Amino acid sequence: PQSLRAHAQARGLLAGCAVVPEKLAGEPAYANTVAEQANLLVAENAMKWKALRPAPDKYNFAPADAILAFANEHNQRVRGHNLCWHEALPDWFQATATHENARELLIDHIEHVAGHFAGKLHSWDVVNEAIDVKDGRPDGLRKSPWLDLIGPDYIEIAFRTARRADSTALLTYNDYGIELDTPEQEQKRSQVLALVKQLRLRGVPIHAVGVQSHLTAGEGTPGAGLREFVRAVGELGMQVFITELDVSDHKLTGSVKERDTAVAKLYGDYLNLVLAEPNVTAVLTWGITDTYSWLNHHHARSDGQPQRCLPFDADYQPTPVFFAMRKAFDAR
Ligand code: G3I
Repeated sequence: PQSLRAHAQARGLLAGCAVVPEKLAGEPAYANTVAEQANLLVAENAMKWKALRPAPDKYNFAPADAILAFANEHNQRVRGHNLCWHEALPDWFQATATHENARELLIDHIEHVAGHFAGKLHSWDVVNEAIDVKDGRPDGLRKSPWLDLIGPDYIEIAFRTARRADSTALLTYNDYGIELDTPEQEQKRSQVLALVKQLRLRGVPIHAVGVQSHLTAGEGTPGAGLREFVRAVGELGMQVFITELDVSDHKLTGSVKERDTAVAKLYGDYLNLVLAEPNVTAVLTWGITDTYSWLNHHHARSDGQPQRCLPFDADYQPTPVFFAMRKAFDAR
């Protein structure tokens, strides 16, 4: 069988992509590709605060529920993303959240949202991107609204609340910039590891670390630092998910063929490294087709060409990335 899904399943691997419910409903080629290529989905935006909470007393679950319905129809699992982040907060948050109510606001949100999806999800990104080395705190915590308004124990509160609301989802801490062997990313890895180790020691329910894996071709290939990190997380009894894999080609000049070769090589090298570790149990790309990649905005190419960054191109034809991913799954 051809598909990424079939090759992943043959190796007991969960593999899939971030999805947009409007496209699942409105674009058959998109929906068919997601259905045949993925056995694990995550909402790119539909389960963030901003999408779920149009007003303090209003929840908009319909788009996210449509992803669950699609996944049920195609025998796919779904990741939740995310219950606590400093971005994608609704416009009313700034004016509403205070030191007095922020803890209750966070707990109410998680009880309501994780409760709504209880028993239906593979995992939740409970806290997303809480570490930022540049903010200079000894514990590495990012100076986010949650830290300012609640204090460092907002992370423990989020995980314990999520566990009370959903006893089955694998509770995940998700972060980026922890893949490369650079001094800064090594420091961030050690601060992430210290955080999750401390949570585990305090008996906080946390089961996995999400390594987002937003890579850039030409910026080096992850190596021993990431491998040791994944193993250290395994020694804590935790899984690692590759949660948002993509490779930006914005630094590459040359022909599309040359760009494709470099991007596919990085995908293959990266997946060979992480899939050699038994506690890496899921791989998701951040989107399925180049056309809709966030990288076309975030890292727009100076030549104005669309990025070549995901396993399918604008015509839903498999790119060299597709074949590199399938080969890496088979090598598992
Ligand atoms: O839906 C609105 C639309 O109604 C409005 O007209 C338009 C103009 O402002 O905005 C639309 O919302 C945008 C949304 O994506 C849906 O397209 C937001 O502005 C935009 O900020 C949002 O960007 C997302 C970003 O997270 C912030 O939430 C990206 O699509 C998404 O790929 C990106 O994903 C993040 C992960 O969640 C966490 N890890 C990093 C990753 C990349 O930044």
